[in-house]
Amino acid sequence: PFPVYNLLRRLSPVRYDESRSTWDVFRYEDVHRILKDPAAFSSVRMLSDKDRETILTMDPPRHSQMRALVNKAFTPKIISGMDSHIRSITMDLLDAVADKGAMDLVHDLAVPLPVIVIAELLGVPPKDRDLFKEWSDILVKGPEENTDEAFYQVMAEKGQAIEQLNDYFARIVDERRVQPRDDLISLLLSAEIEGEKLTDKEILGFSTLLLAAGNETTTNLITNAVRLLTEKPELQQRLRNDPELTASFIEEVLRFYPPIQAIGRVATADVEIGGKQVKKGDQVISWVASANRDETKFDDPETFLIDRKPNAHLSFGFGIHFCLGAPLARLESQIALRAMIERMGDIRLAPNAALEPIQSPFVFGVKQY
Ligand code: HEM
Repeated sequence: PFPVYNLLRRLSPVRYDESRSTWDVFRYEDVHRILKDPAAFSSVRMLSDKDRETILTMDPPRHSQMRALVNKAFTPKIISGMDSHIRSITMDLLDAVADKGAMDLVHDLAVPLPVIVIAELLGVPPKDRDLFKEWSDILVKGPEENTDEAFYQVMAEKGQAIEQLNDYFARIVDERRVQPRDDLISLLLSAEIEGEKLTDKEILGFSTLLLAAGNETTTNLITNAVRLLTEKPELQQRLRNDPELTASFIEEVLRFYPPIQAIGRVATADVEIGGKQVKKGDQVISWVASANRDETKFDDPETFLIDRKPNAHLSFGFGIHFCLGAPLARLESQIALRAMIERMGDIRLAPNAALEPIQSPFVFGVKQY
């Protein structure tokens, strides 16, 4: 998609698409300004079901209250304290395929790692890991064939898995209410916003959001990073010689192949963007994947620079909704990549494998086989 963004950024950086009733915005400067101004560009969606509202779809002041609360569970200290635990989960997953000389990166590492980490952060005991791996496999599954039946079959399976997941968390919430532990669900149970406790529905909604917002994205970051190592094999040796480069390598992967390509908002009043008149109520899509390659912001944007500095990519968003899980996603992907580089001589695509992109304009990643 990237050459297309480059073209659009030049030819029509702010354009209205009649068929989707949507504005698409491609320049760094405009994207940055939209994300920076939640008063003019709202995150609230017209949801038929109010219960599906999450922190992602709130505006201030409600957003600020909720965010202050969940920030407590995602402090840099808590996240960096998970380092050795994440490393041991990663090593276990790699041990399981160590003798084979080949692995299905998505299935064997990139899907289970973030799922297990979030599940345990929420308070799922390690003995239930396999259960979560099963659910996560179902949730990322695509239809086996390109037919309506296959599609509905997968949708039904996913629906069932989500229901089971919800029941599972509902049980954990009940248990932690009686006997709190040192986990995220217990923290959410004890939390108050202006003297009011969160409802069970809100706690479940937030837990599901973490699974939804955190898993597929981190999976795709890990696969995109390994994809880059197969496209630019010389980087493997650089990382092996200098593991300290892993952090800036991951940042550059985020800029170059962002797991989430675009972020949506709604204009709260008539407003001008890049010389175009946007009307109150119009949907505005900010293409961060394009902004990340804007030559007015990045030197030589089409070149992958393992030690790029500064690297103000927008792949985690910007402003008040800046990704809550960014420190966790960074840590997990750094650990996964370091472990692979340490343990594997030469990382390349298996002879019979092909990179099949995920078919979505908003997600950038590689499909599971
Ligand atoms: C918000 C990307 C991993 C939880 C966001 C946003 C982006 C993003 C672009 C901003 C959305 C907006 O402005 O409307 C990513 C990427 C990830 C990742 C690319 C991985 C590479 C995670 C993880 C978690 C997480 C691991 C949780 C453990 C959230 C939450 C929000 C959010 C809760 C909403 C924050 C708010 O509205 O204040 N993420 N994310 N994300 N992310 Fe992530």
